[in-house]
Amino acid sequence: MSELAIHGGAPVRDTPFPAWPVWGEPEEQALLETLHSGQWGWSDREDSRVARFEAAFARSHHAEYGRCVFNGTVALEVALRALDIGYGDEVIVPPYTFIATATACLSVGALPVFVDIDPDTYTIAPDQIEAAITPRTRAIIPVHIGGCPSDMDAILQLAHRHDLHVIEDACQAHAAAWNGRRVGSLGDLGCFSFQSSKNINAGEGGIVITRNEGLAELCWSVRNCGRVRDGAWYQHERLGSNFRMTEWQGAILLVQVERMEELAARRERSGDYLGDQLSEIAGIARQRRDARVTQHGYHLFIMRYDAEAFDGLPRERFLDALRAEGIPCSPGYVPLYRERAIQTATSRLRRFVDGAETAYELPDCPATERACAEEGIWLTQNILLGAERDMDDIVEAIAKIKAHAGELATA
Ligand SMILES: Cc1ncc(COP(=O)(O)O)c(C=O)c1O
Repeated sequence: MSELAIHGGAPVRDTPFPAWPVWGEPEEQALLETLHSGQWGWSDREDSRVARFEAAFARSHHAEYGRCVFNGTVALEVALRALDIGYGDEVIVPPYTFIATATACLSVGALPVFVDIDPDTYTIAPDQIEAAITPRTRAIIPVHIGGCPSDMDAILQLAHRHDLHVIEDACQAHAAAWNGRRVGSLGDLGCFSFQSSKNINAGEGGIVITRNEGLAELCWSVRNCGRVRDGAWYQHERLGSNFRMTEWQGAILLVQVERMEELAARRERSGDYLGDQLSEIAGIARQRRDARVTQHGYHLFIMRYDAEAFDGLPRERFLDALRAEGIPCSPGYVPLYRERAIQTATSRLRRFVDGAETAYELPDCPATERACAEEGIWLTQNILLGAERDMDDIVEAIAKIKAHAGELATA
C-alpha cells in the first residue's frame, strides 16, 4: 500500500471531479432572449418564463401548482404564512439541517421545536415526534436531508391524527421520490431551493409546490405583498412581502429543469454504486436508504464514520487525509439548537409568548450530536456526476487511509 498523501505520498487522485453548474448554449440563449424581451421582472402572464417553469417543475414533482420565490428560505416562510402559522405557534423540525428550516419559523414568529433524527437515515425520527406535540403545535417540517426522503408514511399519519400541517423541506431533494411519488407533493406544501449548490441551479431561487388550489393562491398572494389576483394593485389582504422571482432566474430554470432527470439518474447510479462498494469497508456506512425511497435525490452522499473501526482515528483527521488523497469532503452541520442565532431568537420569542424569562433548553438529541460531532461525512452532488472509475477512486482512498489508520491516529 502506498504512503498516504497527507504524509507526502502520491494522492489517489489529482484530477478534479465534474464541475458544477452544468450549463451550455441553451442557458446562454435563454438569457439573451430574456435580455432582448425587455421583460426582466416577474409578471402574472401565463407565458412568462417563471410561470412556465412553475408549471414544468410542479408537473415533474406530481403537484398541480408551483409558486416561485427568490430562494428556498423564503419558500419555507411563504409556506408557513400561507398556512397562517405565526406568533406563538410551534413547528416540529429536525436539528440536522440547514439553519433556514428553523429560521423560517422564527421569521414568522413561530417556535422551532427540535426532534432528533434517526441514527441511520439522518432524517427526523417519526417515533419521537408525538412526544414533542403540544396544544400549540401547528406543523411538522420533515427535511429530506441530502436528497433522502423522510419517512413520509409515518409523518403523514401522525399529522393526520393530530391535525397538523406538513411542509416538506425538499430544498435538497429535487427529483427524489417516496413510494413512487415525488417529494414536495406528499405534504400540504413542498419547498425547494435553486441556490448555487443545489441539483437545479439558478444562482438563487426557490419554489413552493402543492396539490391544493387554495393553498397555491395563498402562496401567490404571500409572495406578492399580500395582493389578491382580482384586487387592485394597492390592495393588500394579508401579510406578505416581495418574494418574487425574476425572469432571469425563470429563464435559466426552464433549461435546467430539462436537464434534471438525466443528471438525477447519473447521481443515483453513482450513489448506489459507491454505497455498494463502501459496504466492503468496515467503519464506513452509507445513509440508510429505506425500501420506500424509490428515488434518492443525492444532493449529498452522506457517510457515517466509525472511528473505532479506523483504530481510533478521529473523523477530522480522517477528513484531512481524504482531502489530501484528492477527495473533497466535509463534516456537515452543527446541531441547530447549538447555534447562537437560534438560541437568542427562540429565547426572545419565548419571553413574549410565555410572558416569563426562561433559559434556552437544549433538547435531547443524541443521534444529531453523534452525526455532527463524530460520524457524518459529506460528498457533494457534483462528485456523483462522475463515472464508476471516479467512485472507485473514493473507495480506494478510503481503503488506503484505513490501511494506515493506526499510524495516522498516533502521528
Ligand atoms: C435543507 C435546506 N433548507 C432550506 C434551504 C434554504 O435554501 P436557500 O439557500 O435557497 O435559501 C437550504 C439551502 O441550503 C437547505 O439545504
